[in-house]
Amino acid sequence: MSPKTAKAGSDEKEGEAPAELEDLPGVGQATAEKLREAGYADLMELAVASPDDVATAAEIGEGAAQKIIQEARKRVQVGGFESGSAILERRRKLGRITTMSKAFDELLGGGVETQAITEVYGQFGSGKTQLGLELSATVQLPPEQGGLSGEAVWIDTENTFRAERLSEVARALGLDPEKALEHVHVARAFNSNHQELLVPKAFELARERPVRLLVVDSLTAHFRAEFLGRGALADRQQRLNRHMHELLRFGDVFNAAILCTNQVSARPDVLFGDPTGPIGGNIVGHTATYRVYLRKSKPPRRIARLVDSPNLPEGEAVFSVTGEGIRD
Ligand code: GTP
Ligand code: MG
Repeated sequence: MSPKTAKAGSDEKEGEAPAELEDLPGVGQATAEKLREAGYADLMELAVASPDDVATAAEIGEGAAQKIIQEARKRVQVGGFESGSAILERRRKLGRITTMSKAFDELLGGGVETQAITEVYGQFGSGKTQLGLELSATVQLPPEQGGLSGEAVWIDTENTFRAERLSEVARALGLDPEKALEHVHVARAFNSNHQELLVPKAFELARERPVRLLVVDSLTAHFRAEFLGRGALADRQQRLNRHMHELLRFGDVFNAAILCTNQVSARPDVLFGDPTGPIGGNIVGHTATYRVYLRKSKPPRRIARLVDSPNLPEGEAVFSVTGEGIRD
């Protein structure tokens, strides 16, 4: 079996073939395979990794990992300071996915944004999963209809993804329901570790398919169930923080939107005002770019409240969950 790097005889121009992991000193084929399995597919991903993570992934010492990272850094342009115009250019590439409710879209500045995490939290039945299903269909629409002509990845932690409902929602948008289902890639996450491992899998998939939406439904349920008691809180927050940063990186690399759902729990410390709050507290809140609180109103109405956003005013929008999906 010859490694992928053996390109002798190919008529590719010199210097155009991207460097492979195996090209780094100290990285043999076995190490490269382990790194790829852990989601480090190219030199850029290695260059910005932490020695700790690389050491674990490749089962090597931290010193060796450090050297590999340094070699990777020599070979790629690692982002440091960026000019304002480069940032503007990146912002220009931002895509938006319609929720199919004009009011909801407006609340979000024109739809769910790519290169960002949108966290929706609320009680059971508030419409979080329905929003994920709607977006998994609308992302497939062409841009002139509010989509990105893309596909979706869905990490399902509670076994609540419903293919029949997706096909119903897709049909209402004029999409071919069978094709629409093929364009949504669903994985069931059995525990928090598995959930984290599905992110590198999503990276692999998105290198082959035009994935523009990643749904994590629910972001916090496994973490909440597994890390019990005050003693486990710091660990849980650290793991959640890391998980969310991996999700953000996915959004940046593939110019994809990330939708995370989150439950609410009672906050016994709150005596006045709303006694419920999203799980994961500040870690989740600070990492999410947009934070939306969903609550039930007179059926089929729902109220979305934008709680936290870098550039949009706080506000509310009323939408409905109908047989056809989300509408005004
Ligand atoms: P949890 O996951 O339990 O925390 O809730 P959630 O916020 O994910 O709720 P979900 O998105 O599953 O919303 C459920 C609600 O959506 C139901 O109570 C219904 O009102 C509505 N809904 C779900 N499926 C349909 C459907 O096929 N037709 C219609 N008309 N409404 C639906
Ligand atoms: Mg749900």
